[in-house]
Amino acid sequence: MNGLKLVSTGSAMPKGVVTNEDLTKIVDTSDEWITTRTGIHTRRRCGEGESHTQLCLAAARQALERAGIAPEAVGVCLIATFTGDHLNPATACILQKELGFPEDTVCFDLNAACSGFVYALHTAQCLLAAAPRKFGLVLGAEVLSRVTDYTDRSTCILFGDGAGAAVVEWGEDYPSIHAVLGCRGDADVLYTPGVNAEAPSYIHMEGQSVFRFAVETVPRCISQVLEQAGLGVEDVDRYVFHQANQRIIDLAMRKLHLPPEKCTGNIAHTGNTSAASVPLLLDELVSTGALRSGQRALCVGFGAGLTWGGALLELK
Ligand code: ACO
Repeated sequence: MNGLKLVSTGSAMPKGVVTNEDLTKIVDTSDEWITTRTGIHTRRRCGEGESHTQLCLAAARQALERAGIAPEAVGVCLIATFTGDHLNPATACILQKELGFPEDTVCFDLNAACSGFVYALHTAQCLLAAAPRKFGLVLGAEVLSRVTDYTDRSTCILFGDGAGAAVVEWGEDYPSIHAVLGCRGDADVLYTPGVNAEAPSYIHMEGQSVFRFAVETVPRCISQVLEQAGLGVEDVDRYVFHQANQRIIDLAMRKLHLPPEKCTGNIAHTGNTSAASVPLLLDELVSTGALRSGQRALCVGFGAGLTWGGALLELK
């Protein structure tokens, strides 16, 4: 058996806080509606002088410092995102220069929307097996405020900005992450038009269709990861759900009989940060001691594509 362990985490959030009350001033909504339908109270939004690259750099520096490893030890740098500052170069290439990774470090960005961080973990596990250096830096980062239509009350209440980072290490005697990834090509219920689109590039979402997709897919994905790893529900210390909607998490929890104390999240103060959501929560759990050395976290994401992904990570 060979695979990955989580060595350290980091995160970076923009300064600006957007409350539900703030949103009532720009669209026809209420704090009560947003809180009860989603569990979100506040989210962060990038302002002047803040950028996707800066968030990634800050989160990456924190994770590397906590891991206590030099940039020369990094073999792979992956960033899950669909809202980088440039279409190219990839933000991961900018990190290579700014953080001083060797030139043969594999650096690229990856787009699997809200499942992106789990897709990146799996990709890192595969690439690190063949890499000369065994540490990987994996980020999920989004500036969703750039692709959010602040006249659409059904989406603008959901999204936030932020970046989460993880240093992982590949080892011959480390457990596999047992990734389960999937995709059901659908460009209608959840999509963001590209640069050639005539209309502004905003996220379009049929909320109820995505909700139904998530409630069906997330529990199945978790069960498949557990089955592949030969583990029971009780063998996992933390379930790290993509923070899209508290009601989706509650339904998945009930369906699989997961203990609520193992499923705590941070949606109340982050909103839905797409690919950043899982690593931001991982960082919160590790920083507060809720996930400790030797413990297992099962990460699960779902979103545009439609994609889904689940994977296990043990904290070194
Ligand atoms: N404030 C007040 N009323 C609202 C708001 C709002 N912000 N938004 C919608 N409504 C209204 C609707 O117009 C509708 O009114 P009507 O009955 O008069 O037509 C009513 O509330 C109910 O609307 P629904 O869409 O049925 O509300 P629902 O309970 O489904 O909640 C939500 C909407 C929160 C978007 C939910 O469907 C959801 O979370 N879906 C999943 C989203 C998700 O997980 N996305 C993941 C990926 S994101 C990515 O990949 C980038």
